[in-house]
Amino acid sequence: MKHLLSLKELSQSQLLALLELAKKIKAAPEEYRTALDGKSVVMLFEKPSLRTRVSFDIGINKLGGHCVYMDQQNGALGKRESVADFAGNISQWADGIVARTFSHVTIEELAEYGTVPVINALSDLYHPCQALADLLTLAENEGDLKNVKLAYMGDGNNVTHSLMFGAAVLGMQMTVICPEGHFPDGFVVTQAQQLAAAHGGSLLLTSDVAALEEVDAVYTDTWISMGDNTKLSDIAAKFGQYQVTREMMDKYQVKYFMHCLPAHRGVEVTDEVMDGEGSLILQQAQNRMHAQNAVLVTLLS
Ligand code: CP
Ligand code: NVA
Repeated sequence: MKHLLSLKELSQSQLLALLELAKKIKAAPEEYRTALDGKSVVMLFEKPSLRTRVSFDIGINKLGGHCVYMDQQNGALGKRESVADFAGNISQWADGIVARTFSHVTIEELAEYGTVPVINALSDLYHPCQALADLLTLAENEGDLKNVKLAYMGDGNNVTHSLMFGAAVLGMQMTVICPEGHFPDGFVVTQAQQLAAAHGGSLLLTSDVAALEEVDAVYTDTWISMGDNTKLSDIAAKFGQYQVTREMMDKYQVKYFMHCLPAHRGVEVTDEVMDGEGSLILQQAQNRMHAQNAVLVTLLS
């Protein structure tokens, strides 16, 4: 395992090992105080962030490492100099790169032209650190993930893609419920379905909310992702029936609610669900750091 780009690149044993290590680091952080001793990580962010930026910074600190945060004040990535030159230079000083970019191609270029591990901190296509934290959260609540049925409802996006890959690699049963025209990327779906089949899991896609029947957890995300200029008023009618409500959770007896955050309260989910019984949102946020620390320890130490 050289980089963390999408979750698709991991074998089942690598993914399970990351989740186990995350649990160990969370349970006994003092044992990992020097895991990144003398290591430096450059964090490049083309888009805003709360959870990812803060959890990486504090997480790296807790492992005894050092991080340098870079936003776009020196110009957009690839404008002042090529992404390849940028990656080559950073590799002379840093031991790892964490990057949040508009285009996934930029992440792939950083990995190709740099010589140090690259961790995808969100691109237009994937959000593997998020999905890893989400799988850790489900495992903490339900144990063996093979028995967990996960539904993602809303806009098929970067978070959906990495969740689909993670669930597929682990052989989980996952259902993705989206309005017509907002399904996840077709190529990613095909790859995830092949992976799911190979691991004894399944990935179903539908527009029917009734697919929440017999699901353990429903996950949603913003209907409009960063970098997408669609107006909410243009899609609200299409998405309305996919708002996660308490009535919906009760009707289909869904135990858990999940959201990567930031949430648009009253849009994709109601306050009652966000703050109610079975909401895992803060446990997911907390687990971002532990899951990422497992990735850092695995790739850098
Ligand atoms: N979930 C997540 O990645 O949050 P941020 O955009 O705040 O980092
Ligand atoms: N799908 C969202 C996730 C934010 C963490 C976005 O890309 O904006």
